[in-house]
This record gives sequence, C-alpha cells and structure tokens, in this order.
Amino acid sequence: MLKNQQDWPEPVVRVQSLSETCIDSIPQNYIKPSSHRPSISPTSFDDANCNIPIIDLGGLWGADQHVTASILTQISEACKDWGFFQITNHGVSPDLMDKARETWRQFFHLPMDVKQQYANSPKTYEGYGSRLGVEKGAILDWSDYYYLHYLPLSLKDHNKWPSLPPSCREVIEEYGRELVKLCRRLLRLFSINLGLDEKSLENGFGGEDIGACLRVNFYPSCPRPDLTLGLSSHSDPGGMTMLLPDDQVPGLQVRKCHDWITVKPQRHAFIVNIGDQIQVLSNAMYKSVEHRVIVNSDKERVSLAFFYNPKSDIPIEPIKELVTEDMPALYPPMTFDEYRLFIRTRGPRGKSQVESLKSPT
Ligand code: OGA
Ligand code: NI
Repeated sequence: MLKNQQDWPEPVVRVQSLSETCIDSIPQNYIKPSSHRPSISPTSFDDANCNIPIIDLGGLWGADQHVTASILTQISEACKDWGFFQITNHGVSPDLMDKARETWRQFFHLPMDVKQQYANSPKTYEGYGSRLGVEKGAILDWSDYYYLHYLPLSLKDHNKWPSLPPSCREVIEEYGRELVKLCRRLLRLFSINLGLDEKSLENGFGGEDIGACLRVNFYPSCPRPDLTLGLSSHSDPGGMTMLLPDDQVPGLQVRKCHDWITVKPQRHAFIVNIGDQIQVLSNAMYKSVEHRVIVNSDKERVSLAFFYNPKSDIPIEPIKELVTEDMPALYPPMTFDEYRLFIRTRGPRGKSQVESLKSPT
C-alpha cells in the first residue's frame, strides 16, 4: 500500500554541497548498479547524426495549407515514432526563455541558507528538494531541484515560489502564462492528429481546471559521471512536458529501442514529450518514452521541465472514440492524484507504472 509520507526517510543532503566537497569520489548511495550506469561505449548508436526530430512550427495555420499539413504530419510521426521532439518558432520569446533559465541558475547559486527556507517535504514536493521517492536506503540521483505549482489557481501560492532573485516570481508568472498557451495549442494538434475533435484531449484533461507545474533541475558537476545519473530512467507521469534544456551542456538521453540517444538541443527550441496520461487517454496510440539524464565532470546543468497535467481528481481513461472492438481500452480509469503517488513514493522506475496499469486481455 502506498502511504502519503510526511517526511524524508533520511537526512537530506544537497547534491550541490556534495559536488563542492567531493574531489574524486562520490558517496556510495549515488553509485548506480552497473546495468544502470551510462555507457560510454564507442559502438553505441549514439552518434553525432542521431537526434530526436526537430519541427519548425513557423508556418502553422498560415496561408499555405501544404505547410500546415506537413507540420501536422511531422508532429504525428514524431508522437508515434519517438514520443519526443523539439519545436522551433513556437511563439515563446527567446529572451524570456533565456531569462527564465538564468534566473533559476542564479537561484541555485544563492547561499544555502536562503535556499533552505524553501526546503520541501514528500507531502507535496513543493519547494527545494534533492530526492524523488521516500524509500529508505534508495540509490539517489545526482541533482537538486525546485518544484512549484502554476495551475490550478487553488494550488498556486507565491509564498512557495522563491522571492530571490528579485525578478523570480515575475519571470515564473510570465513563463507559465506563455507555456500554458503553447501546451494548449499542442494538445489541440495532438487531438486533430488522433482524428478527434480539436478539444478532445483538452476535455479529457478536465477542461479548464488543468494542472501545470514547474520542476527546475540543477545538476551539479560530478567527479564520477560514469557511476551515477542526474535523473534515473523514467517516463513523465503527467500529460505532456515542455523542457527548456541548458543552452550549453547536453545531458538528456531518450530511449529508442535498446539504445540511449543523447538529445542535441537546438538553440531556443523546446523539447516536447508525451507523458503517461496522454498514453492512457490515447489508448496507447501515443506512448510516453523513457528518458534519463547523465551528468558531467566539470559543468553544471540547469533545465526547466514544465508539466501540463490533467485535472488531478477526475478519472483518466482512454477517450471513447479511440476504444473499438479491435482496440479495447487498455487502461482502467484512475485519477492523476492516485497515479502520481507511485513516482512520489518509489522514485523514478522506467515505465513500470504505466505498463503495470494495463488491463488483463
Ligand atoms: C524531468 C526530466 C530532463 C532534463 O524533469 O522529468 O526528465 O533534461 N528532465 O533535465
Ligand atoms: Ni522527465
């Protein structure tokens, strides 16, 4: 039985502090079993030419219908074949993207006692954190993070957002507003591509009362990047994720069959990925994809993951039009509140949760 934990099972250690004191080794509880360590084999599929699709949204709904049709097709194929793609000309200002990332970088470089005022607990995860999951003795990931709610309004609380750097709250407001718009646009494109009414997925998410949260990841440099991970393999439990990666340091890897592809971020692109709830709503027409983060021996990395999620207390199940005799519903209804307890209790575990949901056939 999953229980809602009030506190962490062990004293919290900030990875940033470890990074400053560990010169050539890392503590045992960050060392992954050998099968989970990042491989740096030269024969790996991960060559310079391999990347997730990059899609230019520039001409969408413009005068040329062929351009719109081509963009829709590219998105459809990326959703089916990859579950991950980058978008450019998405309408969010490059200045805002840079400002958001650099504001958060400054936050992580504030003195520790300032950050500690926002220390989080596993009850809601909001605030400054260093682990995902509450199992005692777990092998931990090499990262700190900040987690906050942007929507629904009932959960949005400026007091739980950092007050420093001084522009932080204002920047999050603006960034959140733009990203919600962009996510809503993409969700409509997904609905159209699935052959549904353009509002179908949005309605499946609960209409107006959807959720949106921001998780800012801080991956400090690590003396032994060969032994650990910045974020263990997982699929995102929510609806859809819009990731703003570091502009200087790669680290995100996406699973493609049995290989791990290192994403080469395009400047001022967002990385979009399908989460478990869209897998459920689309009755597995679209699948969430496992991903993980590797770390670096001399460079820190900052990324902003914006999660666009269904309303948390309504049952999420395959959309009726996508359930047929040939394609019976693969998943029983479950609320997102119930669903996300799994990752919040056990930590990142590949795709084991959404796989285990499958109704017996
Ligand atoms: C996440 C995530 C990837 C990254 O926060 O869920 O997958 O590159 N982040 O930081
Ligand atoms: Ni993720």
